[in-house]
Amino acid sequence: METIGILGATGPLGRGLAARWSRAGYEVHLGSRKQERAREARDGLIEKGAPAEQLRAGNNAEVAAAADVVVVAVPYEGQIHALPPLADALAGKIVCTAVVPLGFDGDGPHLLEVEEGSAAHQCRALLPGARVVAGFHAVSSKRLRAVDEPVGADAMLCGDDEEAMAVVAGLADAIEGLRGVIVGPLRLAPQLEGQTAVVLAYNRRAKTEAGLRLVSS
Ligand SMILES: NC(=O)c1ccc[n+]([C@@H]2O[C@H](COP(=O)([O-])OP(=O)(O)OC[C@H]3O[C@@H](n4cnc5c(N)ncnc54)[C@H](OP(=O)(O)O)[C@@H]3O)[C@@H](O)[C@H]2O)c1
Repeated sequence: METIGILGATGPLGRGLAARWSRAGYEVHLGSRKQERAREARDGLIEKGAPAEQLRAGNNAEVAAAADVVVVAVPYEGQIHALPPLADALAGKIVCTAVVPLGFDGDGPHLLEVEEGSAAHQCRALLPGARVVAGFHAVSSKRLRAVDEPVGADAMLCGDDEEAMAVVAGLADAIEGLRGVIVGPLRLAPQLEGQTAVVLAYNRRAKTEAGLRLVSS
């Protein structure tokens, strides 16, 4: 079983993924800019029933060094600062970015323009040696944190490294009610990131926590 690291694990997405993967038997390293905050997040998860022996806490650099697969769960505005110092530690490792470049205004959530093409392309530029996969963008952190219920969604994944995508798809499949779905190359990342604005806008209108699923007839 892979050891999973989560950068920005103190946020709702990171805590939700950690809650699920630790229960599925993975060793999960919670990362933060501040070691203390990572420890608090770990303690909070344990209080809610996550298995203590599966959870570690550290600063993002420690987590990047310790884990086999690293999930980027920081805000888009943060990754430009958070990732460059980790480039050496993450070279050769699988890095799954869930980062969505979202803005919010009077009309609700919308996708921001990213010079590199997408948040995932920016991640790849900032981590030249890493095996970047993009995914989990439209998966609700609320549904992940509701650990007694199946998530009920697909985690769509894209990337240019088939083996890395298969590993990440396996991690998605390990979460009850979530399915890892590989859709194609990293050039699809702008579209996957953009779907999140659609799902969030719908969820606000409909006051729900819907996710996306691909259905074959
Ligand atoms: N929430 C969701 O349902 C969801 C679903 C799919 C994808 N996403 C995407 O996943 C990412 C994380 O989402 P989230 O809602 O969990 O985010 P968040 O709560 O805004 O941020 C997560 C963590 O990132 C760290 N962080 C904040 N600003 C930072 C900066 N400038 N530099 C480095 N680290 C910083 C903070 O941890 P420390 O202060 O402890 O370092 C924070 O707790 C976002 O890019 C979001 O678009 C979110």
